[in-house]
Amino acid sequence: MEITVKILPSGASFRTRRGQSLLKVIKKEHLAIPLPCGGKGICGGCRIRFKRGAPPAQEIERKLLSKKEIEEGIRLACQCTLEEDCEIVAFLPKASECTPTAYPKLMECKGNGIDVGTSTIFIDVQGKCLNFWNPQVVWGVDIISRLQHALDPETRRAMKEILTEAIEKVLEEAGADESAFGVAGNPVMLGILADEELDGLSRYPFVKKHSEERSINIKNAKLILLPEIKGFLGADALCLLTAAHLVSEELPVIAMDIGTNTEMFLIAEGRILGTSLPAGPAFEGFGIREGTFAQEGAIYEVDEELNYKTIGGKPEIGICGSGLISAVYALKQRGFITEDGQLLFPDGFSLGRVKIYQEDIRALQLAKAAVYAGCKMLLRKAQLKGEEIKRIYLAGNFGGALKKAWLRDLKFIPEDIKAPIEYMGNVSLWGAKCYVSSKNVKETMLSLKKKAEVLQLAEEDGFQEAYLEGMKL
Ligand code: FES
Repeated sequence: MEITVKILPSGASFRTRRGQSLLKVIKKEHLAIPLPCGGKGICGGCRIRFKRGAPPAQEIERKLLSKKEIEEGIRLACQCTLEEDCEIVAFLPKASECTPTAYPKLMECKGNGIDVGTSTIFIDVQGKCLNFWNPQVVWGVDIISRLQHALDPETRRAMKEILTEAIEKVLEEAGADESAFGVAGNPVMLGILADEELDGLSRYPFVKKHSEERSINIKNAKLILLPEIKGFLGADALCLLTAAHLVSEELPVIAMDIGTNTEMFLIAEGRILGTSLPAGPAFEGFGIREGTFAQEGAIYEVDEELNYKTIGGKPEIGICGSGLISAVYALKQRGFITEDGQLLFPDGFSLGRVKIYQEDIRALQLAKAAVYAGCKMLLRKAQLKGEEIKRIYLAGNFGGALKKAWLRDLKFIPEDIKAPIEYMGNVSLWGAKCYVSSKNVKETMLSLKKKAEVLQLAEEDGFQEAYLEGMKL
């Protein structure tokens, strides 16, 4: 007998047979419900809530969930079977405390801020930092999937709703009173928050209608959305540019935020060139056969002896972006991967219960080639040589997990750039806070927004060659 399953907030519904495992349905219907340990029932990271039709909790669920959660209809997506017509709320954000890495050369701002990342939301409220996974993950893990869904006004409103509800809930739990928050994020995230039409971003020349400051009110806060530069260089990129501009003592410098979408600037005397390059989801641990996002149990670092560390010291459930990069570095050091990326273990290389496969190495090569090609092309456009660069500033939450040796040895950065690499931390959150609390920072941002030249490097001559060169390990 068939039953109807409705997934919220996307509203997608389908029919399946009674007694079917939800895991099978997720795979068959390609539902974007994260399965951090690949459905092995060891991570507890695939929590969903049944609004109606909750099946009885299985033994593993009783171990990984609290009694109260089970009573509220929370289950593990990889463990339950579907017994009757049901409605499932996919992905439940759970905030945890964080320490935003502060770059000592940057001025401190007291002020409230939110950094809306495609994968993670960071909130700094009255000096307390909280983060949680962006609940929009049900519409895909990367910026391009989100954009495609957000082109439909009804879906965009649902995406906005799930995000603002999650922010409201976290602010409420943090005891935030009525206050103003600076909000930075990429152009798709801010466009969804402001419920703006995003069609222009979906096709060449990638122009967005709104890029000025605007604000929205949610239950317990006023959100002031920071201005954006242009196209895919949004408010988060403006924060990166501002931070690098404020701390640079000598020019030229390169500033970058490496992620599924990598933003990059070359700041030279009298000229600022910026670009944005899609690098695919490998850096977030997605699109990797046994990949996971950075959560407890994720392998986040592998040393040269091929010993691995997991987040929270928990049993390994998968490998996240930094884990994959360090593993490839270590395997290369040991001669187990060739320069062109061939893994000499045809059945994959095991790190405990987690395996790395040939296709994972390819995904990493493609992702890092985008970063490499971006650097090369910016240098070419500015008519500079790599040796002339004085500093590389690396920002973002992912960047902080990367060791400089990995970046150089695996050729994320062209070999002729010998400049020191400095890590600036989450400058998007820093900028969001400073925009609403420092007149100086706000004025600097507005002036840099006008000065930055935005380049579409993938359209330029020489990009393909640089990209292919960047595939080498
Ligand atoms: S427990 Fe379900 S994916 Fe890990």
